[in-house]
Amino acid sequence: MRTKNPDANVEYINQLYEAQNFGLNSLLERLEGHGRLGINVGILEAQLLKVLIRLYQPKKIVECGTLFGYSAVQMTRALSLDAHIFTIERDLKAAEQARFSFEEAQVIDRISLLVGEMDEKLAVLSEKAPFDMIFIDHNKAGYLSALDWADQNLCRGGLIVADNTLLWGEVAGRAPDLTNESRASKKQLEVMRAFNLRLSDPQKYTSILLPTSEGISIAVKEF
Ligand code: DHB
Ligand code: MG
Repeated sequence: MRTKNPDANVEYINQLYEAQNFGLNSLLERLEGHGRLGINVGILEAQLLKVLIRLYQPKKIVECGTLFGYSAVQMTRALSLDAHIFTIERDLKAAEQARFSFEEAQVIDRISLLVGEMDEKLAVLSEKAPFDMIFIDHNKAGYLSALDWADQNLCRGGLIVADNTLLWGEVAGRAPDLTNESRASKKQLEVMRAFNLRLSDPQKYTSILLPTSEGISIAVKEF
């Protein structure tokens, strides 16, 4: 069984939903082989994205941080056939893997992969605005500028989902213990706290930060 999370509840959920990884074993094996499985979203997050997509039925989605394409492929499984995902990846090797994943999963026509710096590629995508949904899961210090972009380029009522909004426990103020040195940098902590504070503004968003072990936020843009 492939999970990355020692939390018993998450472990249980991941086992319960393991069948949802059908067709994705080789992708997960490639992630594991490259030592990247630990930074991939788990089944819990993938299912949450799929449930939200089935409810909201977005047509144009932006994903910040493709990695090997696991979350993008999972999202296509909940999307209507006329919907499209634009996913952005900075790392060339990861992007190459993602392209392979999209071909393998036969979703290459439903996903556009943009390779390069996040802010640059988001600026390019502005031409296709408005978007219905954004999934933010890239470099943690880059979350605020992705949210700036979402404020400008998502439709009113648009959906923002952001992974890792509790980072590795320290966002909530827990001190790193001696055996587990701080994983988050000062910059990452600052950015994530500011990001969470912004999403908590009831004038702008209806939102929640769910306490998964790394945190995942869901916000509906109200302006
Ligand atoms: C890291 C990044 C992620 O998006 C994640 O879900 C877990 C870890 C990381 O950069 O370490
Ligand atoms: Mg993540």
